[in-house]
Amino acid sequence: MRTHLCAELGVSDIGLEVMLCGWVNSYRDHGGVVFIDLRDKSGIIQLVADPNEKGNNAEIAKNVRDEFVLIAKGRVRLRGEGLENPKLKTGKIEVLLEELTIENRSLTPPIAVGDDSVSEELRLKYRYLDLRNKKAYETFALRSKVAIATRNALDKMGFLEVETPILTKQTPEGARDYLVPSRIHSGEFYALPQSPQLFKQLLMMSGFDRYFQIAKCFRDEDLRADRQPEFTQIDVEMSFCTQEDVIKVCEKLLGEIFIACGHQIPVHFPQISYQEAMEKYGSDKPDLRFAMPLYEVKECFLDSSNEVFSSIAKDTKSRIKALKVEGGDSFYTRKTLSELENFVCKFGAKGLAYLQYKEGEVKGPLRKFLTEQSYKQLESVLSPKDGDLIFFGAGDKKVVWDYMGRLRLKIAEDMRLFNPQDLCFLWVVDFPMFEYADDGSLSASHHPFTMPKNIDAENLEDICSIAYDVVLNGVELGGGSIRIHKDEIQSKVFKILGISQEQAQERFGFLLEALQYGAPPHGGFAIGFDRLVMLLTQSKSIRDVIAFPKTQKGICPLTDAPSKVENTLLKELHLRVNEKNLN
Ligand code: AMO
Ligand code: AMP
Repeated sequence: MRTHLCAELGVSDIGLEVMLCGWVNSYRDHGGVVFIDLRDKSGIIQLVADPNEKGNNAEIAKNVRDEFVLIAKGRVRLRGEGLENPKLKTGKIEVLLEELTIENRSLTPPIAVGDDSVSEELRLKYRYLDLRNKKAYETFALRSKVAIATRNALDKMGFLEVETPILTKQTPEGARDYLVPSRIHSGEFYALPQSPQLFKQLLMMSGFDRYFQIAKCFRDEDLRADRQPEFTQIDVEMSFCTQEDVIKVCEKLLGEIFIACGHQIPVHFPQISYQEAMEKYGSDKPDLRFAMPLYEVKECFLDSSNEVFSSIAKDTKSRIKALKVEGGDSFYTRKTLSELENFVCKFGAKGLAYLQYKEGEVKGPLRKFLTEQSYKQLESVLSPKDGDLIFFGAGDKKVVWDYMGRLRLKIAEDMRLFNPQDLCFLWVVDFPMFEYADDGSLSASHHPFTMPKNIDAENLEDICSIAYDVVLNGVELGGGSIRIHKDEIQSKVFKILGISQEQAQERFGFLLEALQYGAPPHGGFAIGFDRLVMLLTQSKSIRDVIAFPKTQKGICPLTDAPSKVENTLLKELHLRVNEKNLN
């Protein structure tokens, strides 16, 4: 129906007769001459309907309103002097209408297209209108490009794209499952996959050697800005490989994706151990666009006159971390310092002690509790200068890591200590194999199919896994591991996790059986596809890069899912809703 896209036209097309299709972005009636900004996926161009020209275009144009669909024929011309619009790519030209058709009308739109100030709930309800703008189009064009670059890169490296089932059995990625009742088998349920983990391992046992899939995953967990209940992974698995082989494939893949999107990234990313990441940055996904590490200063508090600090200093499970903020003293005021204290207290801190370096003097609540010798020791670790501020967090190591890590990020953001355009990749390796939850229960840190490095270590907490996470700018972009390919190791891991033989048989019997028919050594990884696109487009939320996302509460305001279903349907599925227990 058209010869060009709106924003494809330029000064070199002057005099050309064109057919354009699109939506009315805005219109102005200047005493009979009507100006219409016509929009399509490429952008906007100005149409002019002049009553002095032939045809009744000006009459028709008077009736157009926002978001009407137009088909327009006309000739490209230069705009009059002083009438150029530097904000538009096509701002030097316009199209003088020869024929105008209103192809479809629109109700007054409930949200203005491209208006970010409208509530997200309303934008998601009218998502098709919300997406009707160039920025959204460009986001999804980039998402598409990333998918194509992924397929090309992995194809070149010999990976085969294979689909795996959506209606399946529970998979152990640690979240709650979405269940689908079976009509034919009353009382039985399919689970939606939290990832294709077990199927991709089975494909290695089939000898496919290298598998990938751009896979939908489903996890019923608490949602955040970078989490959705259904999301997409670039899922990869390979055979006869070491951790380094897998890491190289992932680096190559990310390199090709970023090149396709116009960014050059390092060929190899630095690697740090989980332990070092936690001790130095208080996070297993540290943002290394800026340094500002945490220092362990327990030794300086062993003989402190403050009992809280001296007793924490003596406890092996505790930490006293110092964070030196260069120039922090002139940046933070008494008021903003107390806001920082409130901030860390939300994450379990008991307080936030600090030292201020002002005009040759050291101030702050902690100074008086340190002996001269301890203070000297502290100075030698931290080498503070005038204008610096040093924060101290003391307590249980996990709590201190967490809030001091968050404090580090908050201060970097407050003081703009990094360039938001930088891309800082790293690998975090040598994760602990097991972790204890707050309720004392033990679980696998990655998943129970991850190969342990030292399964026979005396202390469970010392068992490391061959697992790795790739981190970009403080976001966990992806993760993976070398898998267990021998059933005796798998059984040992289940035993440690307290999964009985019967339970293991019931839940993963098919995998345990497959491990007995010649399973090759294998491993892989999965990259969060939505998170990757979120970072590439510098979007604030994962929802901006998903065409039809759910809200933080897991609702789709557009379709109104989830919703009630008719009783007859429930009956077929042998289900009954217990109305008394509904919240
Ligand atoms: P994991 O659970 O670490 O590993 O997931 C891999 C990556 O998927 C992304 N991701 C999410 N993105 C959006 N919303 C969510 N709810 C969500 N959950 C995870 C993250 C994460 O790094 N089967 C293993 C991979 C493997 O071992 O090969 C797995 O799923 O970016
Ligand atoms: P207090 O002895 O309670 O007056 O605390 C002295 C200073 O240490 C105050 O600035 C408190 O905010 C801070 N503080 C107390 N407990 C901790 C802790 N566990 N970690 C960090 N700072 C603390």
